[in-house]
Amino acid sequence: MSLPRGFSDEVRQQADIVRVASDYLTLKKKGGSHWACCPFHQEKSPSFHVNGARQFFKCFGCGKAGDIFTFVMEIESCSFPEAVRTVAEKMGIPVPAGGGEADVGHDEAERRRSELLHLNQQAVAFFEKSLTESIEGRVALDYLASRGITPETRKAFRLGYAPNGWDGLSSYLRSQGASRQQIETSGLVTLRENGSGFYDRFRGRLMIPITNPQGRVIAFGGRIIGEGEPKYLNSPETAIYTKGNNLFGLYHAREAIRQRGFVILVEGYLDFLVPFQAGVRNIVASLGTALTETQVRLLGRYVRQVVVNFDPDAAGVSATKRSLEMLLQNGFRVNVLTLPDNLDPDEFIQQRGAEGYLAILKTSSRFLDFIVDQSLRVRDVSTPDGKVEAINEILPYLRLVGDRIERAEYVDRIADRLKIESRLIREEFRRAVETRRTQVSELARQASTPVKPAERTLLTLLLADKSLRSIIIPLLKREDFAELRTERIFESLIDFERRGVDPDWSGLSRALEGDEMAQDLLSEFLSGDEALAPVDRDDERGDDAPDDNNGGSGRRADYQTTTPEQRREELRRRALESLHGLRSLKLVERLNALQIEINQAQRADDPSLLISLLQRKIDLAREQQELAKWQPG
Ligand code: UTP
Ligand code: MN
Repeated sequence: MSLPRGFSDEVRQQADIVRVASDYLTLKKKGGSHWACCPFHQEKSPSFHVNGARQFFKCFGCGKAGDIFTFVMEIESCSFPEAVRTVAEKMGIPVPAGGGEADVGHDEAERRRSELLHLNQQAVAFFEKSLTESIEGRVALDYLASRGITPETRKAFRLGYAPNGWDGLSSYLRSQGASRQQIETSGLVTLRENGSGFYDRFRGRLMIPITNPQGRVIAFGGRIIGEGEPKYLNSPETAIYTKGNNLFGLYHAREAIRQRGFVILVEGYLDFLVPFQAGVRNIVASLGTALTETQVRLLGRYVRQVVVNFDPDAAGVSATKRSLEMLLQNGFRVNVLTLPDNLDPDEFIQQRGAEGYLAILKTSSRFLDFIVDQSLRVRDVSTPDGKVEAINEILPYLRLVGDRIERAEYVDRIADRLKIESRLIREEFRRAVETRRTQVSELARQASTPVKPAERTLLTLLLADKSLRSIIIPLLKREDFAELRTERIFESLIDFERRGVDPDWSGLSRALEGDEMAQDLLSEFLSGDEALAPVDRDDERGDDAPDDNNGGSGRRADYQTTTPEQRREELRRRALESLHGLRSLKLVERLNALQIEINQAQRADDPSLLISLLQRKIDLAREQQELAKWQPG
């Protein structure tokens, strides 16, 4: 990924901030400069100013300002080198191959990723061409027309057609110079069971490219023309595509999302395309599953308010509920829209148009009302048992309402609908909060949790050394890093290790997209070499200061004669020690938290709860003893 020195200056000189910014914003020319609504804060009248003559931007509303690279880094949430690369590509400036500084694994992984991106780009072109220029493609064109997709939409989203043969695409890719190995790992072909070669994965399907937030195609969904199974065939995971890391349509929708201040979340490809085409542009699709944490964080780059509009069937309702939890835990405001007559957004818009959709959008309900509705729909709440069940189902969601006043309102509303006294719900709620630990919002938690020294050392070491990763990562347990501020960095490292990909800066920061705090920490760890410094550095400071002619210091001589083997051993020991230190600290924290619960149980005079808490305390204390016996080695 590393670019030669001076390349960024070259790009800066040739690039035009007005042209690049207009890829993201609708700029209006006024006098000598351009204006838009600021993409970095919410506003109705434009105070975002782009100055072409002086190649800089400034928002007079929120104060953000900078040059072309700052702009791209902010809007893409990417690193400086990525911004340089993005701008270069947009301006058609050839990007040179990586310089020699980075280690081989790093460049290798990056090279493989860019080859895959290139292959996908060629595939898009191939599919587009066979849609519009082959006889076979006409069926797919007719199908698109029957679904109300216009030629403009088709072009904007680069829809295509995969012909019915076994090697149409793969032969084409071969003819363009792709190697067998590149094609095999692209997700565009299926490997034969007997190990002899491969054939096109997508055949006779309408092809929908899936892009990353930077607009590059990373995967495909292929719809069967008409009826048949599977209805959609999707790309498998590859080095550039991880399921559940992306939101379909985000690249095209993000400006509208920022401008409108909320996003509509739908399930399917067509549920995205049809409303988008009709002018409802602040929309993304999760592609048929509940939202993942990564998707929620990605969304968090652009908005904090979501209207979930999944299918009203059972699968849709359960996906809605799981997505709700994920969104709420990450501090989003959430509404739920349920369309009448079991219609999905695509069908609804076809019947009633964008106007009808926008009208019904206004009737979307606050998430807790949706939960209460669901709960009341499936059970008889005229019986005491039914009431208890309903309360149990609703309470966990009530806890996700952060605002106390809002929560109080909900309590009254729930009580009203279940025909019980609000006092009972309040008591139940308090009990639930006291016995289990309160759910703290992710953001608040992260902001208030300092990074522990052992955590810092461990991550610095893991990021620096491949062999350490292969030793330590298999030892990591979820609870070692759960609820740490660096939880997501640990998760990503484990994920990279599992996929056999080297965790370089750009890859990791992409995986941490939407979590600026984690990204900052990441760069801190990647540049922090304290943990890698030689042994007992503090002790040596006195005698090794001017180090040119100090043959005299015994300790220093020791260090200099350290063999690579000894050094590796030393780092391994240090990593194990920090892991151990981290575990001990977390145990202490858990014991402290438990003690608070024990005190509460004592005050509440709840003997059965007390017994179970004390048992947990005994278990933890035992764990602590075990840990104390530990020796590195
Ligand atoms: P649906 O079954 O609700 O289909 O799946 P749909 O979006 O309404 O599709 P159309 O309108 O018949 O074309 C919702 C989403 O789930 C994923 C797709 O992303 C789809 O858009 N899905 C569904 C698959 O990946 N594979 C399938 O076989 C079915
Ligand atoms: Mn549909």
